[in-house]
Amino acid sequence: MYGKIEVSGLKHSFQMGKLQVPVLHGIDLTVDSGAFIALCGASGSGKSTLLNLIGGLMQPTEGSILVDGQDITGLSENKLCLFRRDNIGFIFQSYNLMPYLTALENVELPLVFSRVAEEKRRAMAVEALEQVGLADRMDHRPGELSGGQQQRASIARSLVTKPRVILADEPTGNLDSQTGSEIMLLLKELNRENASTFLIVTHDLHLAEICGRTVYLKDGLIVDEQEVAQ
Ligand SMILES: Nc1ncnc2c1ncn2[C@@H]1O[C@H](COP(=O)(O)OP(=O)(O)OP(=O)(O)O)[C@@H](O)[C@H]1O
Ligand SMILES: [Mg+2]
Repeated sequence: MYGKIEVSGLKHSFQMGKLQVPVLHGIDLTVDSGAFIALCGASGSGKSTLLNLIGGLMQPTEGSILVDGQDITGLSENKLCLFRRDNIGFIFQSYNLMPYLTALENVELPLVFSRVAEEKRRAMAVEALEQVGLADRMDHRPGELSGGQQQRASIARSLVTKPRVILADEPTGNLDSQTGSEIMLLLKELNRENASTFLIVTHDLHLAEICGRTVYLKDGLIVDEQEVAQ
């Protein structure tokens, strides 16, 4: 099993002109391989910042982040870029699909960056779209898909490279509650079927209940957590 995350003493400040704005004040968090975890907390508590640091989108001010034993906080920008490509899948609130590409082409895109040969690429993308239940909409562009379908395409894109860790920032934030629940249940099913660890930011405590473990952030610190037997 892959995708163990060990965060320790993690602090982060944003530079605003001459001002340092502290946002994370010392996060310690261990996530087991293959876990399915919700990250909750009020707006501004630091959820996205924590997720982006774990995903190697930026470097923390202090502390360490180990992914399967590898400390990513010391990596150069170049190595960090390869780390993201090879190990992390991202899912966003607003899907971030390329509007002029079909669902299939969108899902193939990460494999283009990983230099997977065309035929194999196509087969892997089709498989990922089948996994998310979008096989019958592969040739649609994002504008020709519903919000839930666009999110399914973006989920397929995140898992097509078989990453160790999938990070989702408010994946249901733009969806109605029914579709939001469906997407959350889909993520959980994919977590069972694939070997990846899932870390999901959500405002919705009801949706967090679907997760095995919920971690609560407040003002840049973990203040509580809950574990539900699955
Ligand atoms: N690029 C940035 N520059 C300066 N400050 C930032 C930046 N990004 C975030 N912040 C600040 O860091 C704090 C935490 O932001 P973050 O986006 O992590 O919160 P969040 O918990 O994801 O909130 P939300 O639920 O609204 O998405 C906020 O006070 C925000 O203003
Ligand atoms: Mg956020």
